[in-house]
Amino acid sequence: MDQIVTGDCLKVLAKLPAGCADLIVADPPYNIGYEYDRYDDSRAHKDYCDWTEQWMRACQRVLSPAGSMYIAIGDDYAAELRIIGRKLKLTLRNWIIWHYTFGQNTKKKFARSHIHIFYFVADEKNFTFNDDSVRVLSDRQKQYADRRANPTGKIPDDTWVVFPRVCGTFSERADGPNQLPEALVARIVRASSNPGDLVLDPFCGAGTTATMAAQLDRRYITIDISADYVRQAKRRVKKSLKRNGQPTLTPLSPLQLTELIRLYQENEIPAELLLEKPKFIKLFAGQLNRRLAKCSAEPVGPPLKASEIASALQTLANKNLLPVLRTDQPSLKTRNPR
Ligand SMILES: C[S@@+](CC[C@H](N)C(=O)[O-])C[C@H]1O[C@@H](n2cnc3c(N)ncnc32)[C@H](O)[C@@H]1O
Repeated sequence: MDQIVTGDCLKVLAKLPAGCADLIVADPPYNIGYEYDRYDDSRAHKDYCDWTEQWMRACQRVLSPAGSMYIAIGDDYAAELRIIGRKLKLTLRNWIIWHYTFGQNTKKKFARSHIHIFYFVADEKNFTFNDDSVRVLSDRQKQYADRRANPTGKIPDDTWVVFPRVCGTFSERADGPNQLPEALVARIVRASSNPGDLVLDPFCGAGTTATMAAQLDRRYITIDISADYVRQAKRRVKKSLKRNGQPTLTPLSPLQLTELIRLYQENEIPAELLLEKPKFIKLFAGQLNRRLAKCSAEPVGPPLKASEIASALQTLANKNLLPVLRTDQPSLKTRNPR
């Protein structure tokens, strides 16, 4: 438990007991010629597909009967991966599209700006889905002041647009290959596991899954074929738990602050507007407190009051520590503190 292991995931997975993992998050190499430390990302089509089936079978063996498996993949192999999932009789609950901006520049075609994330479960009737830990404000609440709105908000759509690609200037940028955004992986971990559950990632890379599992009070086992990436991922988990260099703000605990910033990013209401509307702050408080209930086995502190949340958001806004939203005017923000 709580290990980042160096090795080939097929060999390491074979040593784990069947059914031990409550959640698997897999972000394999996409076979697009990316330069990894110890892996050749330009395999023949059939070779890559056969390998994908092998590691998916190995993951399925260690997945608990009520477990969930999320797999990220690019366009080139999304169709093949869906077919393998069907062959293995995994139930697909969502085909999520993660849409990001700031993708790679192209000269003669439209720029690629999305990744596919398959959300599979082992048993279509028995799985964990903590809806309250991922809810965001609905349009009925934000735009239309509609009294019929569910006061707890809505479960996000299956197109995820609020998580930008992790760029070189972001504070969460770690050493290591292609990183998934922390807030995106945190959403998966909160939704599909409970505190104390085991989260497994067969392709650890820069260690985003391990870092989020540790931060959210889950256990983890992650694997990478590169000893160098493993070293860096271990350092990242350690640093994140010590919260080196990350903002603190009394009376909020570090986790309360982190989740407040994530909720702000996911709700997409600019601070100026949010702070003018006590109604929104109250809804925020409800969502944040319900979300925090799934972030730790022990309460992370007494429920936050709306006034504490308003004051924290005001301080974060004054210090320019809130993430830039898609709706923000670039001229209003001078730097990106993510
Ligand atoms: C796309 S990266 C994962 C990035 C990760 N999701 C993150 O956010 O940091 C894929 C990783 O798979 C690793 N890898 C490739 N083949 C592997 C294998 N057979 N066993 C374990 N890891 C492998 C690569 O070294 C690389 O670090």
